Amino acid sequence: MKRLALSLPAILAGLLTGIMAHAQPTPSITLRLDQPGHAVSPGLYGLMTEEINYSYDGGLYAELIRNRIFRDNPMNPDHWSLVEEGGAKGKISLDRSQAINDALTVCLRLDVQHAGSRIGVANEGYWGIPVRPGTSYAASFYAKATQAGPLTLHIESADGKTVYASAQSATIGRDWQQVRLTLTTAGDVRPTADARLVISATDTGQYWFNLVSLFPPTYNHTPNGNRPDIMHLLADMRPAFLRFPGGNYLEGDYFNTRFDWKKTLGALDQRPGHPSPWGYRSTDGMGLYEFLMWCEDLKMEPLLAVFAGYTLKGDQFDDPKFLQPFVDEAIEEIEYIIGDKSTTWGAIRARDGHPAPFPLSYVEIGNEDGFDRSGSYVKRFAQFASAIRARYPQLKIISTVGGRNDFLAARFRTPKENVDVVDEHFYRTSLEMQDMATLYDKHDRSGPKIFVGEWASREGFPTTNFHAALGDAAFLTGLERNSDLVIMSCFAPLFVNVSPGGMQWKSDLIGYDALHSFGSPSYHVQKMFSNNLGDQVVNVEATDLPTQIKPPNRRDSAAGIGPKTIPAMFFSATRDSKAGMIYLKIVNAATAPQALRIDLAGPVNLKSQGNAITIHAGSPDDTNSIAEPDKIVPVTTGIKGLGKHFQQTIPALSVTVLQLQIK
Ligand code: AHR
Repeated sequence: MKRLALSLPAILAGLLTGIMAHAQPTPSITLRLDQPGHAVSPGLYGLMTEEINYSYDGGLYAELIRNRIFRDNPMNPDHWSLVEEGGAKGKISLDRSQAINDALTVCLRLDVQHAGSRIGVANEGYWGIPVRPGTSYAASFYAKATQAGPLTLHIESADGKTVYASAQSATIGRDWQQVRLTLTTAGDVRPTADARLVISATDTGQYWFNLVSLFPPTYNHTPNGNRPDIMHLLADMRPAFLRFPGGNYLEGDYFNTRFDWKKTLGALDQRPGHPSPWGYRSTDGMGLYEFLMWCEDLKMEPLLAVFAGYTLKGDQFDDPKFLQPFVDEAIEEIEYIIGDKSTTWGAIRARDGHPAPFPLSYVEIGNEDGFDRSGSYVKRFAQFASAIRARYPQLKIISTVGGRNDFLAARFRTPKENVDVVDEHFYRTSLEMQDMATLYDKHDRSGPKIFVGEWASREGFPTTNFHAALGDAAFLTGLERNSDLVIMSCFAPLFVNVSPGGMQWKSDLIGYDALHSFGSPSYHVQKMFSNNLGDQVVNVEATDLPTQIKPPNRRDSAAGIGPKTIPAMFFSATRDSKAGMIYLKIVNAATAPQALRIDLAGPVNLKSQGNAITIHAGSPDDTNSIAEPDKIVPVTTGIKGLGKHFQQTIPALSVTVLQLQIK
């Protein structure tokens, strides 16, 4: 029903576009190579991430065991079950009397009355355990027992009938001990996620378990690392930075559920995890150190958002002295990232495995503080910013009152607390995003730079559809054209586990289940844009463009604003001064193909052959999915007849990058 509601205006607009396109003269554009264009921000395209939609747990973070420290639900060992075979009889329960330390306070207890042929505990994973052929899995767990004896691990089918891999531990005794085992599948196993991990005993008595972990091979074989398939999808986007750790996930609902970075460091048995605002508990296996390593692996610069003393439920301190510990915490967090080994937190980072400091240029204070109607951000920002500037004058500071430039102008334009960059967020329909392609064209250039730190055309779910990708592409043409002002941007949310119950936020960029992953059409558009970016903007003048109708949204209607005519084609061009290449991006949101005249103004000529990279769909609702991951992907074809004046036919509903080589 929701899909229909979203797509109907798009279809109507598309039909209108098709009709109107016939009435239009041939659209034409001129690339003004005779005019100086401004430099393109090298950091324009990055990633935004947080724990939402099972982004890390059940997503990028490769851990396969769900509820590994038994704190997901205080009443029940969720995702665990009892395995009883051949007359076995027992029960499982949570036990708080056997804490290992302050993090591992709850364990799973197995009481065995009759051992039968097998009795044990099973974990179902995050919608299954992915089994692949010839693959080694690193298992570890804490265990103790009243009866000395070994424990057996099986990766097996969910019904227990097929064993894919197994291993046996040494004797487990009465004291907690950590067991590490490797389980390897045979080369002829058929990939499946219909599997579970079972730890079984052979004798009567009591058994206790904690921090049960199972890792498949990770990206770069990093211990406690990431899923290779998802990392490869990200690497292909060539992102310049990673904005982390949120989002609402940074803030938490309350002070004690914020992203408390100190509790995310060190060995896994020191990490208690925490409840997140997105309705499930985070393991914090993806902790501050892992975020930084993720950046290093993909050659992204960390863009750190620090908790700014304000929670999602609106808690904050009026008195600056109560805020000061959080300011101190932010300074320490920065020291963990960029302090050398002689500093307190730089030394802890070195202990964690990375003696060299990480790069860091930008620090963001809070998240979406434009929503803080109490006005406390003005003071909070000032307190954080002046402390950060005093200690780290080289860092640029990002304010999060996105879009509220009046607010900024009035309150922050003081010499000391000047804002370097403002983070603006836009979640809109595709047509709204297309309408926003010109948002920054006439924007005041005398104020702070702009970081579009969260944005998306929200159509289609769990991942976006092709109509959304058109809105995204149109909006991105505006960001590229204005990249003297808009220095960074990142789509959000980045990830969604598409399994039932995995999604909290619709319209995400990359989807996956336990075994597969895929990029949405929007993902492919992002990839096309970031992989084809020059270092100088080329001004584009356009005439006779086809148009389309943007229906009013609820806010427009309430304000008496009716339908609006907007263009159905969008452009941006950049020039790579070293490679002698012009990248011309063309978005055709019309439902009819468009003949397009392209003229080059200035002392530049092109080689007659180039490439067209095109992504298009038969219908705006078309999308990619687990079943059809490559339904809509870019295709590269050679093009001929290029020169100072040439014509191209731009397919209906398409995004095209023309790679034009300068002679
Ligand atoms: O991206 C989802 C959420 O949208 C983010 O957590 C928050 O910053 C925004 O409101």
